Amino acid sequence: MTRFRLTSTIFVVWITHHLALGHYTAYDYGFDVHGRVKREVGQASRVVVRGDGGPDIRVRQEIRQLERDQDVWNLYILALSMMQFTDQSEPTSWYGITGIHGMPHQTWGGVAPTPGNKDTGYCTHSSVLFPTWHRPYLALYEVFLYSLIQTIATWWPENERGKYQEAALRFRIPYWDWATPPPPGESVLPSSVGGSPYIDVNGPNGVQRIANPLFSYTFRPLNLTSFRQSPWNLWSTTVRSPTTTGLGAQSNNSLVALNLDQNQRSLSQRLYILFSNYGNYSRFSNNAWIPLLNNASYDSVESLHDTIHNLAGGGGLGQPNVQGGHMSFIPYSAFDPIFFLHHCMVDRIFAMWQFLYPQAWVTPTAAILNSYTTSRGQIQDSQTPLTPFFINGQGDFWTSDGVRNFTQFGYTYTELSTGPNNSMRAQADVKKDINHLYGLASPANIFLTELRSQGIRGNNRMRPSEKRGNKATAAAAMGFNDGGLYREWIANIRVRKQALDGPFTIHFFFGRPANDADPQSWTSTPNHVGTIGVFTADKFGMGGMQMGGLDVSGTVPLTTALMSEFAAGKLASLESGDVERFLRRNLVKRIVGPGGKVWRDVSRVEGLRIAIASSSVKAPGSDDELPVWGEVEELFVL
Ligand SMILES: *[C@@H]1O[C@H](CO)[C@@H](O)[C@H](O)[C@H]1NC(C)=O
Ligand SMILES: *[C@@H]1O[C@H](CO)[C@@H](O)[C@H](O)[C@H]1NC(C)=O
Ligand SMILES: *[C@@H]1O[C@H](CO)[C@@H](O)[C@H](O)[C@H]1NC(C)=O
Ligand SMILES: *[C@@H]1O[C@H](CO)[C@@H](O)[C@H](O)[C@H]1NC(C)=O
Ligand SMILES: *[C@@H]1O[C@H](CO)[C@@H](O)[C@H](O)[C@H]1NC(C)=O
Ligand SMILES: *[C@@H]1O[C@H](CO)[C@@H](O)[C@H](O)[C@H]1NC(C)=O
Repeated sequence: MTRFRLTSTIFVVWITHHLALGHYTAYDYGFDVHGRVKREVGQASRVVVRGDGGPDIRVRQEIRQLERDQDVWNLYILALSMMQFTDQSEPTSWYGITGIHGMPHQTWGGVAPTPGNKDTGYCTHSSVLFPTWHRPYLALYEVFLYSLIQTIATWWPENERGKYQEAALRFRIPYWDWATPPPPGESVLPSSVGGSPYIDVNGPNGVQRIANPLFSYTFRPLNLTSFRQSPWNLWSTTVRSPTTTGLGAQSNNSLVALNLDQNQRSLSQRLYILFSNYGNYSRFSNNAWIPLLNNASYDSVESLHDTIHNLAGGGGLGQPNVQGGHMSFIPYSAFDPIFFLHHCMVDRIFAMWQFLYPQAWVTPTAAILNSYTTSRGQIQDSQTPLTPFFINGQGDFWTSDGVRNFTQFGYTYTELSTGPNNSMRAQADVKKDINHLYGLASPANIFLTELRSQGIRGNNRMRPSEKRGNKATAAAAMGFNDGGLYREWIANIRVRKQALDGPFTIHFFFGRPANDADPQSWTSTPNHVGTIGVFTADKFGMGGMQMGGLDVSGTVPLTTALMSEFAAGKLASLESGDVERFLRRNLVKRIVGPGGKVWRDVSRVEGLRIAIASSSVKAPGSDDELPVWGEVEELFVL
């Protein structure tokens, strides 16, 4: 198996430091565009998130796919840019909408904070409302971008107007699929997002070079009354893997791309396991670790989402003494344009998961953290208002029950063509897509490949993986029995969320990283196994959430990496005894915390517990099935 195919073949060098961002501006339409938008887009769509589906249900596409539809792409870029250049005091400006999530902790749509909660944002984390709250949030953003796009389309000269108005109807927000292998020669980080601070866009007034609205957001102005802590009061533009903690920090998107590429297989496996083995909503939905709940449920869609936040923000890995950028910190993350691309992917995962487990849903659970309108200890259920998202003009809010059927927002995803659907056929179709997109890195697929090579075809239509030669060896290691049973290995990780007073990342290697003293080299070290990110804030950033006592959990799958070790002759078998001996000797942990500080002695990190767990798993016998996990048992604590 080649776990590190991507990092070894791709070297992306993107324009980063030598171009001053301030240099690029908004699109020049040749008239006072903001006055006109105010008149034409109107107030109605400004605060209410309509649920009538709009004119019809359209597919939200992957960002690389949307980019191929040039007319829609131009409109999308123009509308994003316009939001970013709209006065920050407007509720539907970039700052207004992204500011709902965390900073600047301001009231939106007149929805006041409940007592004691004014120092937080509206977002709900470590909560059963995590997936459902972000759904109307995305819908609000989409509804507003959509209406902006309809308006912009009317500004083209008459001979082209029809074409753009037609394209405008096709628009739905794109998602960024960070788990599926990127197209050959490309990085997981799309070049439209990380490649360049400017973009040439074809608008109603011709082709112009403007600031790339997917690359960063520039605060106009950076409000020093709201942003008091360093470095937030120094960084006037959102950054990823910032080059310094001080003034003049630039994004190093090449480094972000390397980190994402190195982790793609691990992310893909986590997602595949979530789909296969997390049918319980309470466990799937959020990262809060509830004592002794279940050895099989350390992961969650929120925990996987956290890891992407840290990889995209850059938690210091590869750049000693430098802290992560905006994406790594809950309260500042939404300002970075990659946030909505990422969350659209999270919503898509949630929607696909709903197809697999149509009966599973929000059950009443006490809130663990504060948000702007809910307090710690308060019971949250499927009727809890998802503030500040109005469902009508009478001041009622969306609820989790209300957003369960997402097609009423007028969107769906390719894999789901229609809305929530209990039919077995629809479920089998989704499973097929999951196998196709996220199953490649899973050992479960080796069994299917084996079946196929023996002429037992089922109804497979999966892509063959690259290294067929090694598969047979790997399959031998798995010791599949006739029923397709084999053993999976995972690291269960639990830690105090505020252990290091800021976001941190735990990296796993087999053996020491090639150059242990130089974290910068870790991004390309071949013995890297996986990374888990803890997404948080320092005590100033989100003190109001009261994250003090919270433990969070997540996982790093180990099986595929173990199979590589087997293929390399370093591991005798995947049997418990051999694996335990191997992991005790070889599994190396490194923690990179705020400021790029590296912890080698993990016992100094509060509440950190890493246990190795294992389960017998039944591989799918055809590509419209998912693996079936047995009981997950913890075997030893590292
Ligand atoms: C800056 O933030 C403060 C506090 O949130 C607010 O009162 C003020 O209006 C903001 N200033 C500008 C220019 O946006
Ligand atoms: C960005 O990161 C890459 C990969 O670690 C490194 O080679 C490059 O020097 C960095 N660029 C800057 C400007 O720091
Ligand atoms: C889901 O998990 C929660 C927490 O462990 C548990 O209380 C609940 O009974 C489970 N629900 C189902 C349907 O198994
Ligand atoms: C988790 O695994 C440990 C060790 O195998 C076991 O003692 C414990 O009962 C398990 N917990 C649950 C909830 O299954
Ligand atoms: C979901 O909403 C759509 C659009 O509002 C509607 O046509 C469809 O019947 C709904 N589906 C279910 C299962 O309620
Ligand atoms: C459910 O999905 C099946 C298979 O894709 C499709 O034939 C059927 O029309 C769908 N039903 C609804 C109510 O959308």
